[in-house]
Amino acid sequence: MTWKNLELSRDGAIATLVVSRPEKLNALDNETLRELLGAVETLSADAGVGVVVVTGAGEKAFVAGADIAGLSKQGVEEAKRNSTLGQRVTLAIERSPKPFLAAINGFALGGGLELALACDLRFAAATARLGLPEVSLGIIPGYGGTQRLPRLVGSGAALQLILTGDPIQADEALRIGLVNGVFAPNELLEGTRKIAQKILTRGANALALAKEAVWRGLQLTLEQGLALEADLFAQTAASPEMREGMKAFLEKRKPTWLR
Ligand code: COA
Repeated sequence: MTWKNLELSRDGAIATLVVSRPEKLNALDNETLRELLGAVETLSADAGVGVVVVTGAGEKAFVAGADIAGLSKQGVEEAKRNSTLGQRVTLAIERSPKPFLAAINGFALGGGLELALACDLRFAAATARLGLPEVSLGIIPGYGGTQRLPRLVGSGAALQLILTGDPIQADEALRIGLVNGVFAPNELLEGTRKIAQKILTRGANALALAKEAVWRGLQLTLEQGLALEADLFAQTAASPEMREGMKAFLEKRKPTWLR
């Protein structure tokens, strides 16, 4: 696969997807969003991929937002299409059976933070800055930020970011639960890949179902969510993975998963 604004590398079952428009701080124009959608769909369907790490090219930015030059002339209809395209990318990540880990290596602003919010886990370089500055441009977040951020950190912390538009530093993002961990900049990718390695030792089918239970459950009442959980729990019993996982425990050995 070749893309203009993405780079993909593989290290065993870990795929690393790099958003690469460094001269524009990896801002997401429509071309990049379309490439991202295709890449996420391809990686999601690839049985050899266990975990996907998403990061940005260069040292300065993860993704500095949607491409403002592209948005600046949008009319009402086009604005709706722009928002929907970004949302398709974030939904494809959320609905992927593979765990996605964001390695936030610098500015994660606007659409960049929204991309990270759709990932299952987020790790940040100590120098990263995260925010939703849209209101300073006269728009609102359009790639899921108004919905996923309050679900993750609560409405108070989310509204602080959304209404002030001010970015926060990595340690503050850790404090409010926006990121799962903070690393020295030169250790971010290695640290994130270590977590990916840990996840890879778990059952792929169980990971996909656990992810589905959490993301879909967030949209449901507790009662509906529990019913969903019971259905997905039941599906694990149909998998050879469950038999191997439990057999390995009883035989005091590590499981050998079929991938
Ligand atoms: N869309 C389009 N271009 C962007 C961009 C974006 N979201 N973010 C950065 N760029 C471009 C800049 O226009 C500049 O391009 P140029 O060299 O052709 O002029 C280049 O990337 C470098 O950015 P610059 O602003 O010069 O870097 P900086 O270190 O002074 O500032 C930021 C860094 C991130 C604070 C600043 O670029 C910024 O505020 N970006 C916009 C963030 C934003 O509002 N995102 C939400 C969009 S909805």
